Amino acid sequence: MTKRHTRLFFIGGTLLFAAIFVGLTIDSHRQFGELTNADMITEDVIEGKHVWHRNNCINCHTLFGEGAYYAPDLTKITQQRGAAYLTAFLRDPSQFYSEEVHRRLMPNPNLNDTEIAQVIAFLDWVANVDNQGWPPRPIVVSSGAMAGSYGGDAPTAGTTSDDPVARGEALFRQPALACTACHAIRPGVTLAGPSLAGMAMRAEETVADPSYTGSATDAEGYIRESIVSPSVHLVPGANFSTGPGGISLMPGDYGTRLEDEQISQLVAYLATLR
Ligand code: HEC
Ligand code: HEC
Repeated sequence: MTKRHTRLFFIGGTLLFAAIFVGLTIDSHRQFGELTNADMITEDVIEGKHVWHRNNCINCHTLFGEGAYYAPDLTKITQQRGAAYLTAFLRDPSQFYSEEVHRRLMPNPNLNDTEIAQVIAFLDWVANVDNQGWPPRPIVVSSGAMAGSYGGDAPTAGTTSDDPVARGEALFRQPALACTACHAIRPGVTLAGPSLAGMAMRAEETVADPSYTGSATDAEGYIRESIVSPSVHLVPGANFSTGPGGISLMPGDYGTRLEDEQISQLVAYLATLR
């Protein structure tokens, strides 16, 4: 190559790649509106973003993997937990975790119900942004502090066992099902839901009680009903439901999310808690 060729090669290459770079940048910007669902940015989403900033949520949490790594990533939280859970959680986070067990609690942000609805709207918009698979897997804090709630110590053994009780326990601890986010199995530890310690005996007592409003006739039937149709009979408790005859805080869609066999495995496991 002569000197002149080299220079042309350099200039041509630089121009070509600069053009590709500009082209790709423009192309990305062209897609932003669509990828971010710009038309879904309502007043509530905007207000919710302000709530998020005013309360420095990012000082502990991440969105899209960006932020502080003290607390779980919330990019997909509305899809993982649902609005009923998040509303109850944000009203009083301490209700969902035991300080004794988890060692670390989220401070109560003292939001009013409007602010809670707005920040959930914002998080729901975030969850629907097409971030092309980023972060590649949910970023969960797996330290001892989160054990049980986030699968840090979740036993994986049961998932390959043939024993329905072991499989049921593995399901119970599966982070995606979130049972352990709301239920402790230690006696006396009340999270968002009651402790399931002594479940078998309590189930027997409940079906025999005149105030029982469901249709189960034995303990296993009651446990199954509690999982599939939580609102049929409400466990009394100030924050467990919207009130007597109301709706349980427990998600009502496990009956469709779980296979029949999986429900039987959960029942088999919970029936061993005496
Ligand atoms: C001082 C740190 C801190 C701040 C600030 C904070 N959080 Fe949290 N958050 C946590 C921790 C720690 C957890 C894990 C649960 C626990 O220990 O209470 C958590 C859990 C959550 C969860 C539940 C996740 C789950 O899967 O159960 C949501 C939702 C949440 N935070 C939203 C918010 C919002 C919205 C804000 C701002 C208004 C906020 N957080 C501010 C520390 C914080
Ligand atoms: C968002 C919180 C939440 C999640 C997640 C949750 N539950 Fe519950 N659960 C509750 C609440 C609150 C109650 C009490 C109100 C009621 O009767 O529905 C309850 C009640 C129960 C009961 C009846 C307890 C009793 O003493 O009679 C059983 C059994 C149960 N849940 C099992 C499960 C299983 C299994 C899972 C996971 C597949 C699960 N729960 C997930 C909140 C939750």
